[in-house]
Amino acid sequence: MKGLHVIGVSHAYGNNKVLNNVSLMIPAGELVCLLGPSGSGKTTLLRLAAGLERLQQGEILINDEVVANAKMHLPPEHRGIGLMFQEYALFPHLSIIDNVTFGLDGQPKDKAHRRAMEMLDQVGMTAYAESYPHMLSGGQQQRIALARALAPEPKLLLLDEPYSGLDTNLRGQIREDTLSVLKASGVATVMVTHDPEEAMFMADRIKILGNNGRILQAGRPHDIYYHPQHEFVAKLFGLMNRFESVVKDGHVDIPLGRIPAKGLENGRKVAVLVRPEGVTLTSNGGAKSAAGAPLEVVSTHLLGHDNIVRVALTADNVPASERDVYVRIHHTFEPELSQQITAGIDPEYAFIFPTDEEGESTGTGNRLLSVSQPEAAE
Ligand SMILES: Nc1ncnc2c1ncn2[C@@H]1O[C@H](COP(=O)(O)OP(=O)(O)O)[C@@H](O)[C@H]1O
Ligand SMILES: [Mg+2]
Repeated sequence: MKGLHVIGVSHAYGNNKVLNNVSLMIPAGELVCLLGPSGSGKTTLLRLAAGLERLQQGEILINDEVVANAKMHLPPEHRGIGLMFQEYALFPHLSIIDNVTFGLDGQPKDKAHRRAMEMLDQVGMTAYAESYPHMLSGGQQQRIALARALAPEPKLLLLDEPYSGLDTNLRGQIREDTLSVLKASGVATVMVTHDPEEAMFMADRIKILGNNGRILQAGRPHDIYYHPQHEFVAKLFGLMNRFESVVKDGHVDIPLGRIPAKGLENGRKVAVLVRPEGVTLTSNGGAKSAAGAPLEVVSTHLLGHDNIVRVALTADNVPASERDVYVRIHHTFEPELSQQITAGIDPEYAFIFPTDEEGESTGTGNRLLSVSQPEAAE
């Protein structure tokens, strides 16, 4: 298979076990984001793929060729990879065109020059060929780094948090530009990030690396968001409402309403996580017997297109730990403080995870709410 194939890789620095039997496959033409918290081993995995770190256990193949295993280590320059790592910034003393030509030193000069200009054209930077890195903005330098990485037509492109140094506005634009250049090149790309929104935006597939050095879940962005298989994954995307409940006759009840839970046995303890956009608010016009959970609005925060509304559920039977609920709602809905409204739930944004006696989720939840098949184990 063309692309990157990582098989059973474990890695430790001294006693610090960083990667634990990680396997993944990144086919040519796909952009895969490796998403995980800081310290979870993302950079280590990229450095192993690049050959900047010696492999301790497992095997790595690029386009079906073994580049590292217990016995052999192909040096980085023979792996045919393009790198965009923070420590591989542009050479300050070289002009832009010389930076991009740098990886083409095996080729005849005029051919290398033509290729470099072609790459500058692709990233919209031909006008800067004779400039020097310090004359460029951060975003422009990123474009040059991308052109430099792609110029030798690598088999594989490895990007390590390439936009972390850029401000938010710039990041949006450069992500889009990068995507179109990468799609045109058809190169297999692994991009490491700790930013879930960045991964959602960029990736064909996302692999989630947990704190235990294992891949927790792999799938398309839609699956990761709508069918998280671990509480950890569900919580990656920001604010979550968490309730504890028990399965009864194929459903679970939480203060916001009832959610189907087919396939889980009666009496099973579960945690129910509800995204703020899965909480619905309804004005009951002051009616006494309105459906839904009664509440008080605590505060509202405008986030641009949406509001985040914090409410407190007021029914007597709601446990104290579950009273505070976050609601994400379209900005035109601006609940007046203490207006008469009730809360309900959209089950599409609710995820059920079996828990142990302490209420910690055991991780293999939510099969019942998945409509799509989970990605085959790799
Ligand atoms: N060269 C190294 N020597 C010792 N420990 C390291 C080295 N590189 C990384 N680590 C440790 O390995 C763990 C994972 O690091 P890293 O792969 O950089 O994670 P991430 O990129 O996900 O933030 C961290 O605990 C880090 O301190
Ligand atoms: Mg890192």
